[in-house]
Amino acid sequence: MTRKPTYEELEQTVRALEKDAEKRKKAAAEARKTSGRLERRLKERTKELELLSSKLLNAQEEERKRIAGDLHDVIGQSLSAAKFTVETALEQMSGDRPTLSLNSLRALVPMLQKASEEVRTIVMNLRPSILDNLGILATISWFCRQYKTFYAAIVVEKKIDISERDVPDSLKTTIFRILQEAMNNIAKHSMADTVQLCLEKTDNLITLIIQDNGCGFNVKNIRSVGSSGKGFGITSMKERTELSGGTFQITSAYGKGTKLQASWECGQIRSI
Ligand SMILES: Nc1ncnc2c1ncn2[C@@H]1O[C@H](COP(=O)(O)OP(=O)(O)OP(=O)(O)O)[C@@H](O)[C@H]1O
Ligand SMILES: [Mg+2]
Repeated sequence: MTRKPTYEELEQTVRALEKDAEKRKKAAAEARKTSGRLERRLKERTKELELLSSKLLNAQEEERKRIAGDLHDVIGQSLSAAKFTVETALEQMSGDRPTLSLNSLRALVPMLQKASEEVRTIVMNLRPSILDNLGILATISWFCRQYKTFYAAIVVEKKIDISERDVPDSLKTTIFRILQEAMNNIAKHSMADTVQLCLEKTDNLITLIIQDNGCGFNVKNIRSVGSSGKGFGITSMKERTELSGGTFQITSAYGKGTKLQASWECGQIRSI
């Protein structure tokens, strides 16, 4: 026959049960807090992604506007001038001034040459074929040459310590887009006169560093796309780097210039 528990034993069991209930209550409150935190983080992230995707659409629209502008102002003008020249030459030919028509047609050659160069520049800026044909190292050199012609006051010190075959194909576009955006930012915002550009491979790490000696800025102000109307360029460089399996860091301070660093561990690179 089982004996009845004593009063003290019953009291002990009740205390143990109360302690257990207390623990469970605490754990439930902790779980609620964590889930609240996660929910808030998720909401923030969703908002950031929504903003990013709307900025992406805007950027696409802006890009189209820019290309339309380039085609209209640059190519359109060259073609109108060429058409006018041919019309003049035809008139001269059908009239009594055939030698003049020859001069008009001769003037057409540099005009068409210029138009063809302009088309090449527009196409190169969209997606330089040199990237596919000659690779990232040749593209970086080409980009630096172009940059020098546009921004003669900025000296670019280039250090390349990697071979072409060490850069996976999937990373080449990412590196080029980061380079384009970072160098455009330097020209637009930094007032720098020197840029150090480094692409290297040490051990198993590919690193791109772009550093300027310009005015610098407060990185905290533009850390997320949501914090202001600005920041699409930096956000997209960061997203591109992280989507391709790398890490992205930007450090800057007023009067101390800006340093941007993107690194990829060789085994972790993903194609995007
Ligand atoms: N190298 C730099 N030197 C000084 N300020 C910079 C530099 N790079 C970025 N900034 C500052 O950070 C801000 C955000 O740069 P970001 O590239 O994200 O946007 P943006 O250049 O203003 O516009 P977008 O790139 O979308 O055309 C800039 O407006 C500028 O104030
Ligand atoms: Mg920018």
